[in-house]
Amino acid sequence: MEKEINIAIFGSGNGSNAQRISEYFADKEGIKIATFVVNKKDAYMIERAKNLGIPCRVFGRNDFYNTNNVTDYLKEMDIDFVVLAGFLWLVPENILQTYPRRIVNIHPALLPLYGGKGMYGMNVHQAVIDNKEQESGITIHFVDEKYDEGTTIFQAKCNIAPDDTAETLAQKIHLLEYEHFPVVIEQVVGNLQHNN
Ligand code: GRF
Repeated sequence: MEKEINIAIFGSGNGSNAQRISEYFADKEGIKIATFVVNKKDAYMIERAKNLGIPCRVFGRNDFYNTNNVTDYLKEMDIDFVVLAGFLWLVPENILQTYPRRIVNIHPALLPLYGGKGMYGMNVHQAVIDNKEQESGITIHFVDEKYDEGTTIFQAKCNIAPDDTAETLAQKIHLLEYEHFPVVIEQVVGNLQHNN
């Protein structure tokens, strides 16, 4: 029998994608959301973890960038794969090396457009609206040492109506994320298992 794949979801804030992904995999065999890893003490994602009965750990900047505390924890939890869902820091080298091509991120725009440092959350949607774009979307990609530059795995688009605002666009994008992110994770993890 194939080993169950344990996933850690990293986030910094609200955590609605983390919740959606956890609910999607709750009754599936072979993939388990084993923990949330959060870098902000007041992230609502911590509350969501409690409600979902999923372990959650908070690590600060020093843990991430000057110690092996995070990789030690991931090993202790037997984590095979990492999902970034609204995680706002660069992933440090020691985590990248521990999980080569085993870390994915979701970005709320059609990369390479509207990516890079400072392009997160509502900043992205406001920039898209300010530039009067007619479409936006989501990008799911592998993570490397730069912001938003790893290989693209999947994109989906939505139209922007003339009366859309950054807020209404954010809602459209979230719906796309909830629809596709869990399915794409399932596919990537499935490919991983077959290639091993
Ligand atoms: C999502 O739009 C995601 O694409 C971006 O940050 C947002 C996180 O939202 N990286 P949530 O925390 O999952 O609600």
